[in-house]
Amino acid sequence: MNTVDQRPEKTDLVLPTLGSGAMFDRIARRYDMVNRVLSFGMDKGWRKKTVKRLQLGAHARVLDVATGTGDLAIDIVRLTPGATVVGLDPSTQMLEIARTKVAKRGLEDRITLVEGDAQELPYQACEMDAATIAFGIRNVPDRARALRELARVVRPGGRVAVLELGEPRKGLLGHAARFHTRHVVPKLGALLSGSREYAYLQKSIAAFPPAEEFAALMERSGLQMLEVLPLAFGACTLYVATPREEV
Ligand SMILES: C[S@@+](CC[C@H](N)C(=O)[O-])C[C@H]1O[C@@H](n2cnc3c(N)ncnc32)[C@H](O)[C@@H]1O
Repeated sequence: MNTVDQRPEKTDLVLPTLGSGAMFDRIARRYDMVNRVLSFGMDKGWRKKTVKRLQLGAHARVLDVATGTGDLAIDIVRLTPGATVVGLDPSTQMLEIARTKVAKRGLEDRITLVEGDAQELPYQACEMDAATIAFGIRNVPDRARALRELARVVRPGGRVAVLELGEPRKGLLGHAARFHTRHVVPKLGALLSGSREYAYLQKSIAAFPPAEEFAALMERSGLQMLEVLPLAFGACTLYVATPREEV
């Protein structure tokens, strides 16, 4: 039975010149610093957790979609002997920074950076051992299409990991985390980056579906869920899945 949902699942936010990565071009230069400050440095640990959950063998080939400034791609090759990564992103400026970081670490032979869109991956079916998208799916206009693409390019038994921010849960600490996301992120983000794009980022976090709803979308998009792991009181969630095998 083919359980893959063909309905487009569009984001309901109107994205300012997004898709082309143009918005991220404007915040690229300060992206890493702002990220570190706004997440209290936790984003680093979240990416490492993501790499662990991929359960990669040596020399694995991995696709990191929405690679941005390349942090996850770098973690994957650092933590996996012989692994190679293709980092794909539509933002020229984000990729430019990724290129500099990759070169500084002497990883050019293991990380290839390419311009591209999550909704139309330029790879054959089952070409990758794993695929990742960290803090990127939120910005993709047709999320279901991007998820189907991730499922398509990963070999049977391989893993797809999605790391994404969302509105933190209820409860006292969840309340504090929610206050941070709603009020601190847009204001401090704008201040640190010198750009108003962080107000949009906060809105896109608030508009992202709850974890169980997004996991259901992954299930309808050709993936079988293995784990849904809340991080920082649900301010971030790690979704781990494998391509659904057709029967
Ligand atoms: C918040 S950054 C995340 C970067 C990186 N993955 C990280 O962990 O820091 C989001 C990235 O998504 C990219 N993006 C936006 N629309 C996209 C699309 N349609 N397909 C792929 N990437 C996209 C942006 O250019 C940006 O680099």
